[in-house]
Order: sequence, then C-alpha cells, then structure tokens
Amino acid sequence: MIPEPSGTTSIDPHWWRQAVVYQVYPRSFADSNADGLGDLPGITGRVQYLRSLSVDAVWLSPFYPSALADGGYDVDNYRDVDPRLGTLADFDALVAALHDVGIRIFVDIVPNHSSDRHEWFRAALDAAPGSAERERYIFRDGRGDHGELPPNDWPGHFGPSSWTRTTGPDGTPGQWYLHLFAPEQPDLNWDNPEVHADFITTLRFWADRGVDGFRVDAAHLLKKDLSEPYRPVETISEVSRYPTDGSHPLLDRDEVHDIYRTWRSVFDEYSPPRVAVAEAGAPPSRRGRYASAEELGQAFNFELLEAQWDARDFRETIETCLATARASDSSSTWTLSNHDVVRVASRFGLPNGTDLNQWLLSAGTEPVADAARGLRRARAAMMLMLALPGSAYLFQGEELGLPEVPDLPPEVLRDPIWLRDAGARKGRDGCRVPLPWAADGPSFGFGANGAHLPMPAWFGDYAVDKQDGAGGSTLELYRAALRTRRALQSTESLEWHEGPDDVVWFSRDNGWHSFTNFGLEPAALPAGEVLLSSAALHGQQVPGETTVWFRV
Ligand code: GLC
Repeated sequence: MIPEPSGTTSIDPHWWRQAVVYQVYPRSFADSNADGLGDLPGITGRVQYLRSLSVDAVWLSPFYPSALADGGYDVDNYRDVDPRLGTLADFDALVAALHDVGIRIFVDIVPNHSSDRHEWFRAALDAAPGSAERERYIFRDGRGDHGELPPNDWPGHFGPSSWTRTTGPDGTPGQWYLHLFAPEQPDLNWDNPEVHADFITTLRFWADRGVDGFRVDAAHLLKKDLSEPYRPVETISEVSRYPTDGSHPLLDRDEVHDIYRTWRSVFDEYSPPRVAVAEAGAPPSRRGRYASAEELGQAFNFELLEAQWDARDFRETIETCLATARASDSSSTWTLSNHDVVRVASRFGLPNGTDLNQWLLSAGTEPVADAARGLRRARAAMMLMLALPGSAYLFQGEELGLPEVPDLPPEVLRDPIWLRDAGARKGRDGCRVPLPWAADGPSFGFGANGAHLPMPAWFGDYAVDKQDGAGGSTLELYRAALRTRRALQSTESLEWHEGPDDVVWFSRDNGWHSFTNFGLEPAALPAGEVLLSSAALHGQQVPGETTVWFRV
C-alpha cells in the first residue's frame, strides 16, 4: 500500500482532485547508461529528488518501444519498455521506488494511433485490402484512375496530408491509410471491437503493475465519420480546429464517450480506482463529458498555458476553468508548461502576443526574450497556479526556471512538426532538451556522455546542483511553494478579492491568500502573515511581477 503523503496509510479515493503531477519526459530526464537517452533506471535514481519536490504523482510520457518518430508517441508495443530505456523489471522497480516515498505514477496511453512498426500494422501491410488485418486501421482506396490521389483532402496535424499510400512488397502502389499525425503513426480503427479489447488489456496490464493513473493522449480523436462522400476540408474548417456540436468528422465526436465509459468500469475494478486525465482538444462546453465521473474523471484545460501575462486574462481564464470543472463535478487541471509548448520562462520573457513559431524560426532573436523578466513572471505565475484549487501539472525543468532552447540547429531537430512541414514550423525540440543536473560535465550530469539533443553552455547556470540549497533559487522556491501548498491545501473553494487593476487576489477557505501583482508598479500588501513570495518584498509593498502568499 502506498503511504499517504501525510504518513497515514488510508487511501483517499479523491487524491487526484488536488494533486501536483510532475511530468517526466523519460528520454530527457536522466541517462543511467551513457547512451545519450534518458531511461527508467535514470528516473529511479532521482526518486529522492522528486520526493524533495513534494509532488504527489509523476506522469511518464511514453517509454514504450518506439522509433521515436514523434518522441515516443508512436508506440510499437503498448505493453513493453523500449530496450534503450530499460526493461519491465526496471519499470516495476521505478513504481516500487516511487510508491515507497508516497509518489503515485501515471503512464501515457496513446490510443488514437500506433506506430507503423506495431505488429498489427506490419500485418496489415502484408495482408490484402478488406482483410481482418487491415480492419484494425483505416485503409481506403485512392481516387483517380489508378488510385494515385489520396481518398480526400484532409490535412494532418503535422503536415500536408493525413493519408499515405502503401507500397506492396513488389513495389506496386496500393491503398492509402489515415494518419492524423505523422505517417509513422497510423490511426487505429475504433469501430473494430478488437481494438477496444486490446486497449482494455493494456490498461489492465499497467494497472496490475501498480500504475495509479493514465494520461490519455489525443482522447478526442478516436472516433471518426468516414462515410462517403467525404466532407471537403473547406466545409469542416482546418482539421486542427473544432466545432462545438460534435459534427466534425474527425474531432470530438459523441461516440468517443462510449469508449471512456467502458474504461471507467475497468478503472473501478481496482482499489483505489485508477484515475485518468484526458488530453482532449474540445471546447470548454464539451470538455466536461471527458472529465465526468462516469468517464475519465479529469480533462486538461490548456487555457492557463495559453494565457498572456495580464491580470484580466488570468482571472477570466481561472473563472472559466473553475466553472467548466464544476459543471462536470470534476476538479480543474492547471498547467503552464508541457512537452508540446515553448517553456514558460521564455514565453513570459517575450512581449504578449509574440508569434512563438516565428520566434523559434528566428532562433530566438526576434524579439529577444528578456530572460530575467521571463523567470520573474514564471515564478509568480507558478505560485498563483499552485494556490488554485484543483490539480497542477508541472513539466520537468520548470522547477529550475529552465528557458526554451530556441536555437537548436536544424540538423538536430527531430520533431515531425519540423520534418513534415518543410521547415515552416520549428516544432517542440527546444523544450525537450535534457535536464542539467550538474553545473559541469559532458552533459551537465544528465549522463556520463553526450545527450540526444545538444545542451547549450548556459544550461549549467540552471543546474540542479547550483540551485539545490541556494537561497532564492527557483528550485528552492518551488520546493517551498509545494511544501506550503501541501500543508495548507483544503477544500476546493476559492474566494476572489478585489485589488488594483493589475492584481489577481484570491483566498482559500483556511485563510490562505495568493496575491499576484502583474503590473510594474508596487502594490500595497494587505495585512496578514507572509508565507512565501516569488521575489523580495519591499516592506509593505509587493513589487511588480510578483506573487505573495500570506495567511489571515
Ligand atoms: C499529443 C502529445 C504530442 C503528440 C500528439 C500525437 O498531443 O502531447 O506530443 O505529438 O499527441 O500523439
């Protein structure tokens, strides 16, 4: 049984509602065998570090066998560990080590697509059109006299088309298959009961190994309307956009919820029930269904992550997200960073409204990010987020104040967004550069050798060993904030207080206040016992771009 963080051994079935979940991107966390890729034993070796953060759970991005065509979100085998990252025994050891210190574990389930190296897809390619093997995916004949044109004009998230044509062993072109992401990620056919059954087996496989929760990748995409005639892309808008009524042929269809109701019955077979969080690109009005107690229980909201540095934007975002979560009787999820976006310390160092892709394409030169300002705001935003009711998701390295690496040279970029879009979008590699654990060494303590993405010389300034125990460091601020949150967390209520225009001020029901000054001018600090501040206070003044927690 997992010891509760409080030291008791009773399991609270609602532990997830206000949990802090730390996202580990395994190949960039810690490399135990000097091959340049982070691995599971590397994570196990850092469990004390995770414990020192006082996080409630760790979410592992995919660690399954994969060609890494999309950073592991192209899964060859859902019930195994990539040999470069370890073994199932290493996974069990990691679960045991985390549970020993009271940290729970989420794994990432990628149900929309497998990789093209999955044994099912290889069998499908070897089998004839119309065969049972092909029915596990979405194969269609092409248009044109010789089937040389894709079945329709639907674009993919990563590139020009969501269809790729197959080639037979003798080189003859054949049918086309659907992939909403990269060609190496063929979409599974969720109209096929065999696909449903296989994912239930996968969920049980990991739940039986002690996994506490699941992050469900692209949860809104599984069901598709492929009836003909296909709707031309102009009539359904871009594939990456969503309507609010479930009428889109590819996104957020109502039938997808049948899947998650079944998954819930599987989660509820366990004690305590396994939990889940949907990554669902659905508008707030439709997100609640994924997050309901009958389905996955929680759904990410990404609004805070998209919010500009602006008091009104933050407050409105928080109000919308809290209302959305309440409507489905779930709790809100908050996040400022993940493996798909520019790191928060860089985003907030750029003027509001900066086109982040253009910024990355300019290698971070236009405009130049104000690193000190970005870090100051990121620290303030983190404290604001951690004071909110609901769960908070942190991305590895955020606790170091790590900026984006915007100037990775083109030849090292691995993101299919870059590779498939002919260099029009730089992609997400810059937030996936391995963590600096030590101020020096070949890969700043990440491993004994190099790293799979180059780490810039300035990474050493952010190293764990430089910040560990250093008063005022971002790492120590995160630790103090997470400890304080754990001590003060109570019900999910929140009360707003009105301050100056540039201030976002609220309290929780036990007198815990969070006060963020988004402006540049100091704001008067209300009366109370100061608990923590993201920057030094000036007497009774809260300086600009600062959050202070106090107790009344
Ligand atoms: C999710 C993941 C992203 C991945 C995509 C396809 O959005 O977060 O990293 O590329 O799904 O699996």
